[in-house]
This record gives sequence, structure tokens and C-alpha cells, in this order.
Amino acid sequence: MAKLIIVSNRLPVKLQEKDGKLNYQTSEGGLATGLGSIYKQKDNLWIGWPGMVIEQKEKQQQIVSDLEGENMYPVFLTETEIKEFYEGFSNETLWPTFHYFSQYAIYEQKLWETYVEVNQKYCEEVMKMASPGDTIWVHDYQLLLLPSMLREQLPDVTIGFFQHIPFPSYEVFRLLPWRKEILEGMLGSDLIGFHTYDDMRHFLSSVNRLIGYGGMHGWINTGNRSLLVDSFPMGIDYEKYASTAASTEVLKREEIFRKNLNAQKIILSIDRLDYSKGIPQRLLAFELFLEQHPEFHEKVTLVMLVVPSRDAVEKYKELKEEVDELVGRINGRYSHINWNPIQYFYRSYPLETLSAFYRMADVALVTPMRDGMNLVCKEYIASKLDQNGVLILSEMAGASKELSDALLINPNDVRQMVDTIYQALTMPEEEQKQHISNMQESLKRYNIHHWVSLFMDRLSYVKLKQMSMATNYLDEASFQELSDSYANSSTRLFFLEYDGALVDYQTKPMMSRPDEDLLQLLDDLSSNPKNRVVVMSSRDKDIMQAWLGHLNIDLIAEHGVWVKQRNTGWQTLLSLIDDWKRDVRPILDLYVDRTPSSFIEEKDYSLVWHYRRVETGLGELRARELVSHLNFLASDSNLQVLDGQMAVEVKVNEVNKGKATSRWLNLLPHDFVLAVGDDWGDEDIFKAMPRDAYTVKVGTAYSVAKFHLDNCAETRRMLERLVEKKTTKKPQKSTL
Ligand code: UDP
Ligand code: G6P
Repeated sequence: MAKLIIVSNRLPVKLQEKDGKLNYQTSEGGLATGLGSIYKQKDNLWIGWPGMVIEQKEKQQQIVSDLEGENMYPVFLTETEIKEFYEGFSNETLWPTFHYFSQYAIYEQKLWETYVEVNQKYCEEVMKMASPGDTIWVHDYQLLLLPSMLREQLPDVTIGFFQHIPFPSYEVFRLLPWRKEILEGMLGSDLIGFHTYDDMRHFLSSVNRLIGYGGMHGWINTGNRSLLVDSFPMGIDYEKYASTAASTEVLKREEIFRKNLNAQKIILSIDRLDYSKGIPQRLLAFELFLEQHPEFHEKVTLVMLVVPSRDAVEKYKELKEEVDELVGRINGRYSHINWNPIQYFYRSYPLETLSAFYRMADVALVTPMRDGMNLVCKEYIASKLDQNGVLILSEMAGASKELSDALLINPNDVRQMVDTIYQALTMPEEEQKQHISNMQESLKRYNIHHWVSLFMDRLSYVKLKQMSMATNYLDEASFQELSDSYANSSTRLFFLEYDGALVDYQTKPMMSRPDEDLLQLLDDLSSNPKNRVVVMSSRDKDIMQAWLGHLNIDLIAEHGVWVKQRNTGWQTLLSLIDDWKRDVRPILDLYVDRTPSSFIEEKDYSLVWHYRRVETGLGELRARELVSHLNFLASDSNLQVLDGQMAVEVKVNEVNKGKATSRWLNLLPHDFVLAVGDDWGDEDIFKAMPRDAYTVKVGTAYSVAKFHLDNCAETRRMLERLVEKKTTKKPQKSTL
């Protein structure tokens, strides 16, 4: 039965060893509780690292069997892997880069290699447990390469990926030496989710600029697959936080804390010790607040809970020293015998303690420099049962997009922070209630369960959409039928598209010259006297001539403007009257003037305005304008406007590959026809084919073709198998 497999770097439990005994502590993070409701169901499974290095085989075995009943499966990482994959590449390269601290990022090839190896290790572990019908949901920046690795092993499996941290703007992302590999790794997914629209936009722009795939409404077409990118702001388990805040245990703890902290007002801050959280900046703002507002001395306390995190990483160690020093300095400067302005705790707390702090805090000060989402601020709101309290929230946290009722601040603006602390501490109760209640309404609705079901529904939708777009795969049974028909025929026509069907796309078109294997294949295919092979392209005829002209095959160049039959010369099918260019060219020139890095390509029968090198966004904007401008012009002429991949092409209406192929179909007898193409232009070919022709689309985008194959290698393999096939009838001479 199909199951859901969740994969994340960490399991939702933390393994601990005390006096030689293993015990498992449930992690309290939002993800663990949110997905808790689904990974425990039926055969579902969560795969990840148990949080400790375990080397002995027997102990590993023990852990595997302990976790089996809990629907978890551990991945064991070695000391070196923790150092190089987790602390190293994940937290010293990706984490700083993705949080706009690229000055902290280190670029080391060795760390990257271990990152690849560990992603591969996760892939192998998943493969032990996965079947083709399963859904695999991969989480976060530690496993960016896993989706493509899994896709390679299980081409049809459903893969979702969610990134819990920000995706930086292209300008920052492109600094990474392995930027392309990272994007390609992610693109193995069917659905990629981010917390915010900005993250999604940044990702799409990086894919566009670095890999060259354009996006339309979040859909990316990789040539042979379509995937969706969307934003899903993660919520919390609202009911859990609200009901915990009402429990007697929490009320008891709150009472004790209040007694010990005999301050009138409490400001709360809770985060992992991380430079992305803006802790020193927050402390400086609080110090300035005390300086500017002596009336609050002895009346306000900052309770600062800092959770130890990644403490083997240098930058985290440095931050610990900086925070210790700042707290010492501020407390040293302002403390009284019965008042410490800052109560600083460097440890982690169970839910009940956090809840008591949330309840008693008059103000929550959540001021990250950058945060994917930030759950602490949402937990604070959910715990405010009496609706008294004020949230000060950094606009750099993903949560700020949803919580517009918070007091939003820029964490770099210390003066603004000071004024906002004052505003929060003096806000009338009624106003506090209004804000908190608005935020509670939204958090109740968009809770973690909502988030999970939204993501899963969207993933199913993507799969359905992919299926409806795709034609049937040319499987073995269909191939046998095709192959029998080939064997039983005596006059065969092959229409083969060059780029994308016989040869993979390259970033530079001139790199796609035919390799020896392809030349041999075309030679073998065409040397059978029953076969007539036509290779088609939108490239110009001179290139086609140079690359393939020496073979005994027919060629169609420039979408069908030029044709060549075996060893005869090139002929044009059009009287190339190109008066229209005189009218269209100045319009395209205007768009080149207005759009830096765009350019015009002139072909015999068409003019193309290319914008693949133009700044993302601007190119698409201008293309939309140009298309409508040209459509207006084309409406009373014989021109066709094609809104293509990073290009707008204007051509004479009667030229297309379909029309060109008809020429062969009209002139030559044929009792077997095979056409293979890959892009939108090739649909004209499929439409022109006789009803009993075999039409094959390379890739799974929508097509009128009868079958599809996944890539050029599969096209070649199909043709090779036909060449090897014994025929049953005598060859007849073809007549063209
Ligand atoms: N948390 C916890 N114990 C603590 C402090 C925090 O369990 O002592 C939890 C907190 O309740 C929240 C999570 O840690 O669910 C922190 O998530 P957030 O998104 O705010 O930051 P992250 O650490 O993921 O960057
Ligand atoms: C952030 C990341 C998570 C990570 C967590 C704790 O929330 O998005 O992937 O698990 O921090 O960090 P750690 O390094 O302890 O796993």
C-alpha cells in the first residue's frame, strides 16, 4: 500500500544515553507535532538522524528496532559526517548564505563532497524503505540534493520538498560555488514549498538565471517534467499551545516565576543561540531603552531564554561570548540589589515552562535579522488566553507577512526598536486585546494541520496535473507493437527532431553537435533501403548541413523553410517575400532599446526577440507588452506571433514543421511512420501525421503525440532496437 515517507535531517525524537541506557525524548518543534498526526498513521514513516553518533552495530540495531514501532527509521551519521555535512556545509555554508550572512559562509570543496555523500546516504536509506507508489516529503536545507537523487532511482514517485529557512535573492545565492548543483537537486521534486512568496520568487529567479528554465505561475518546465513552486506559511499546533497555557501545571509555574521576578513588566525573548536571531542587536536596543527611559528602571525585566545550538561551529561560539559579555555589561551597569534588568538563561526548556513565560510576558521581543518563519512569536500569541500582551516582530521574519497586527520593526534600526519597546509597554489594554485577538483568529485557522493538508493536497494536484498533461509512456508492450509494425512494413518514414529528441539541450546551442554514436545510429537507420530518415530542426540550414549533410538522410531546417533530400541541394519551400520584416523590425528594435541585454535574431522567414539574458521580471514584462503589440499588427497580416521560451518570434504563417513534413507524406509511399519531437513547435508535426503514425513526445509536458519518452537517451535506444530488428518483407525502393 502506498505510504508517506517524511525525510529530514533530524528525527522528531532526540536520542540520549544515560548510564549506558538509551532513551528517546520527543522533540517539541512545530514540525514534529505538525507531522506527528500523519507519520504515526498506518505504514507511514519518518526517516532521519537520531541526534547522536552511534558507531556500534549492535547499538544501531537496537535503535532501529526501538524506533520501528514508532514509525521511525534512523540514519546513522559518523563523527566526520557530522563535522563536514552538518556543522560544515549545512551550517557554515548554506545556513549563513540563506540567511544573508554570506560574509560568514565558507566555501570548501571537501565539505561540499561530504554534503553530496550524506545526501546520497539518505537516498540509500530511503530506497530501502520506499516503493514506487509512495509519497516522499523531504525537509529543509540539509537535504537539498535528495529530491533529484530519489527521482533518479524512482522516476515516477511523488516527491515534495519544503524549505524551512529563507531562500535568498539571486544576488546572494549565486555566490555559492555549487549553486547549479543545488538547484538541480531541488528540481527533482514535484512540489517545492517555501514559507513566503518572496522566498518562492527568489528561488524562481535563481532557477531562471542559473539554469535557464522560465516559470509560469510557479510552474517550471524542465523539458521532460513539470513541477510547481508555491508558498505555504507554516502554522503552529494552536490548540496544543492554547490548552497547555490553560493547564494547572502552567499556572503553578507562572505563579512561582512571578514571585521570583518581582518586576512589574516582563519582556520575553526566546531563541536558539544563532546570529540570524539578532540577539546582540536586541540587547543593545534594550540597553538604549534603559538609558533613555530611567522611569522604567526596576520596573521592567528582559527575560531572555537562549537555547544552546550548533556550539561546535566557530561563529556560534563567538556569538556566545558576545552575548555573555553584553548581558554582563548591561546588568553590571543597571542592576540593583533586588533588580536585574536582564534575566538570562542559556538552556532549553520544556513546553510547560515556555508556556508559563509566554503567559506572563507583557511584551514578546522577536527581532531576528532573518528568519524563515519563526514559530516562537506564533506560540506567544496562542498562549495569550486573556489577550493581554504585545508582540514586537522583525519584518525580516517570515511570520511578519501574516502577523500584521504585531508592532513591526527593522532589527537594524536600534532607535526604532527603543521607541517600539516604549510603545509596547505603554499600549492601552484595549488596543492590545484587539491586536492579539486578530492574530489569534488567523493563527487558529492557518494552523499546522491546515499547513500539512494544504501541502499534501497541492502535491496530489501536481501529480494529477502532470498525468493529465502527459501522454502514455512508450512502455515495452507499446514498443513491441511499434516494433512489429516496423518489421512488417516496407516503406518507412522517420521524422526526428534534432534538439531535445536526439540530442540533449546544452546551455550554448553550438555545443550540441552530433556525437559519434548519433552519427552511427542515423547511418544505420538510413542505410536500410526501406527507411527514409528526415531530421528536423529550427536551426539554420548551414549548421544542419555542416553537422549532418554528409549522411544519406533528408533534412528540414529553420522550421521548414529549407528542405534537403538526401544528396540533393537545399530548396526553399517559400518564396521568401519578407516585406513584413520592414514593418516588424523597428518594433523589435524599440524593445531592444528599452530592454538591456535583449537582442534580435534574424532568420530567413522569421524575426526573434530574445530575452534570456535580461534581468528576471523585466524580460517577462516586456515580452507581454511585445506580444500584445505584435498580435495587434498580425491580426490583419499573414504573420504568426509565438510566445516561446525566453523569446518572442514572429514568422510567416505558412511556415511550420508540420507543413514541411506533409511534403514527404504526400510524395512518398509509407506504411510505417514514426515522428519524434520535444517542444511546442513539434506539435505541428504530430498534428500533420497520418492517423496510424507512431508519434512520440520526449518529455511529459502536454502533447497530442500518442506516446512519450523521458529523454534523448531513450529515443536513441528505441531507434537502436529498431535497427537491430529483423524484417519480414522484402525492401522496396523509395521514390522521392
Ligand atoms: N523551543 C523549545 N524549547 C526551548 C526554546 C524553544 O522547545 O527552550 C521551541 C519553540 O517552542 C519553537 C522552536 O523551539 O517551537 C523554535 O522554532 P523557531 O521557528 O522560532 O526557530 P528555529 O529554532 O527553528 O530557528
Ligand atoms: C531550524 C532549521 C531546522 C533545524 C532547527 C534546529 O529550524 O530550519 O532544520 O532542525 O533549526 O537546528 P539543528 O541544527 O539543531 O537541527
